[in-house]
Amino acid sequence: AAFCKSANAGRGARSLREMTGYTLGKRRRARYNLRTAGAARRAGTWGCADMELLERRIRADGEVLPGGILKVDGFLNHQMDPQLLMELGREFHRLFAGEGVNKILTIEASGIGPACFAGLVFGCPVLFAKKNRTRNLSGEFWTSTVFSFTHHVENTILVSKKYLGPGDRVLIVDDFLANGAALDGLITLCEKAGASVAGAGICIEKAFQPGGGRIRARGVRVES
Ligand code: G4P
Repeated sequence: AAFCKSANAGRGARSLREMTGYTLGKRRRARYNLRTAGAARRAGTWGCADMELLERRIRADGEVLPGGILKVDGFLNHQMDPQLLMELGREFHRLFAGEGVNKILTIEASGIGPACFAGLVFGCPVLFAKKNRTRNLSGEFWTSTVFSFTHHVENTILVSKKYLGPGDRVLIVDDFLANGAALDGLITLCEKAGASVAGAGICIEKAFQPGGGRIRARGVRVES
């Protein structure tokens, strides 16, 4: 739970159907409501049923490694659970519906999975910033730099000018928000392109690291 900022605290709980597309019979529904209400109260996340699916999955299948690293490679950033990612996509859509989003932006590699599902729900293209200029990339690019805290180097990230411009209203999606270097770089790319940023939808925010606070202070809406 320490990894999950209760950004949705206080918001109304959603129905199982809204969350999963599934319906239950009356008796099973009553049992489900009791179970989830109990679990949410115990976890201190009552009122934010939206987050329960991912929180439960992290508790069940995540692993905390030394150095504050959360391993979620069984369902999020190596092997992926498409149903879970679809629910995250629906949740990002619920949070940012009405914001006029016409493009999802992420960064390779692990952001691409959640971003694609978000793109499916929003019905818009998904653009990912490349970390390396490969041979089959040609033309003009928007670039910015991302500092890697792991390797202590600055990396250039880029997107084609063809796919990001002043007409775009962008939702940035990523799997993790930690130090926020990647998110900073993506916001800078949008600023350079003249695109407006509706906000950032993050699967897991490590609220004890400084990225989220800094980016919110930059005036960008971050939901995690
Ligand atoms: P940032 O994304 O907020 O800038 O994070 P930071 O620079 O601190 O982290 C560098 C990389 O490590 C990022 O991936 C980030 O997603 C990942 N990361 C940070 N904390 C955790 C964690 O607790 N668990 C896992 N599994 N990953 C974490 P990246 O360099 O963009 O790599 P990629 O996997 O997307 O290719």
